[in-house]
Amino acid sequence: MNVSATTSPPVETQADTVVIGVFDGKNVAHDIEDGALQSLLESGEAKRNFKHLALTHAAGKRWLLVGLGKRDDFDAERARVLGALAASRAAELGAKSLCWELPHHVGDDVPGALVEGTALVTYRFDQYKSVPEREEDRPPPPLGELIVSAHHDVSDQVARAAIVADAVNAARTLQNMPSNDMTPTRLGERAMELADELDGLGAVVEGREQIIGRGMASFAAVAKGTDQEPALITLRYDGPDASGPVLGFVGKAVTFDTGGISLKPGAAMSEMKFDMSGGAAVLEAVGAIARLRLPVHLIAVIGATENMPSGHATKPGDIVKAMNGTTIEINNTDAEGRLVLADCLAHAVAEGAERVVDLATLTGAIIVGLGSTFAGMMSNDDEWAATVEKAGTATGELVWRMPFHPEFAELIKGKYADIDNAPEVRKAGSITAAEFLKRFVGETPWAHLDIAGTAWNLGRAYAEKGGSGFGVRLLVELALSHAG
Ligand code: BES
Ligand code: MN
Ligand code: ZN
Repeated sequence: MNVSATTSPPVETQADTVVIGVFDGKNVAHDIEDGALQSLLESGEAKRNFKHLALTHAAGKRWLLVGLGKRDDFDAERARVLGALAASRAAELGAKSLCWELPHHVGDDVPGALVEGTALVTYRFDQYKSVPEREEDRPPPPLGELIVSAHHDVSDQVARAAIVADAVNAARTLQNMPSNDMTPTRLGERAMELADELDGLGAVVEGREQIIGRGMASFAAVAKGTDQEPALITLRYDGPDASGPVLGFVGKAVTFDTGGISLKPGAAMSEMKFDMSGGAAVLEAVGAIARLRLPVHLIAVIGATENMPSGHATKPGDIVKAMNGTTIEINNTDAEGRLVLADCLAHAVAEGAERVVDLATLTGAIIVGLGSTFAGMMSNDDEWAATVEKAGTATGELVWRMPFHPEFAELIKGKYADIDNAPEVRKAGSITAAEFLKRFVGETPWAHLDIAGTAWNLGRAYAEKGGSGFGVRLLVELALSHAG
């Protein structure tokens, strides 16, 4: 989608459809010549309630009047939702070019949020659908253009949001692709592609032999059952005039999680193609950060493998030694995410990461606790946790912190080895998983985001079904908050 900003009024743009918002208790600020919009409100056909939409035609264009609700309740997330609703309606009506009139006196984050809502709802994943023979059976072409019209210059925010939204959509495609195509090798190729394209970004992709060679027996244990080559993807980005701590982004990319020998039940197992969502978000966020040329230092590590049962798979009870020397009793091969992340976190820290955040679809328990509304956050550092939480709030990718406690640490102690990947006592499942990860970051400030509930089927107006790209916006914001 082509995205731009203008200080011209909507009526003067080439858009075929214009969206005008009205707050509770307010009237149309800039009406068209015959007062058509205000009369739509007065007739009751248009309403000021949040999400209400009404349509009229005037001055050779389509006009959508949208209810913004109460000014006090209005924020970037509401703008994202309205951007999505207006764009869906406009596309249904056959719009090719849409112009949003920026509501007056709103936050600086609203123009970008309108862009995100529009670009995210316009996303389609149809590359596996055959093209219907009859033209009339083909879906209408999506919206091709968005123009944000404002009294002041909002071109910077709008351009940035367009880059971020493209990265979110790119992550969604990595997520939505089936595991027979979205293999660890394919993720590695995507990393190389971004590194080739973008200045200051480098990528190294290592396979099974190098993973074993680095002493990453925990990661290797997950990859043992599959014939697909695993990939340890390490990206480095050094922005122009970068300063501040070296950020470390780590992502779980299990391209398919069968559970391994501790096989999962069949129902909805196909959704486990999404178990690489953390890695997808990290990869495309790094791409966006490099594209925006943000002045930060960044290391990203993505651990990509399938988790499969086979004659050469890891078995419950097997013991391995991770890269940092910790011995692990693998009592459930379905608790594989923490095994992959253990070595990836240690690797990121060894490579110089000074503030670490990991994203992983780690536990079903987090879905029970927080649904799709918040990602779970566990952290060993209050200041870093607050920084990550702030980036989440700013982008609408909300995180909710959960506590550590010596009693949880007690639960992961091993019977035969140092730690156990799946304690028999099924208590605080998401936290014990994080307690496990904590053993691999040492003293480095670190925050773990469990995105099992938010990575797909998010249920928001701009990302209802399928991969959501959750985490891309948060990570870019985190980098932005360290820029300058
Ligand atoms: N990838 C799953 C977690 C998951 C489950 C994400 C459902 C999204 C939806 C993870 O590898 C897993 O299987 N976790 C187990 C851990 C348990 C065996 C300790 C879980 O949550 O049941
Ligand atoms: Mn699993
Ligand atoms: Zn998993």
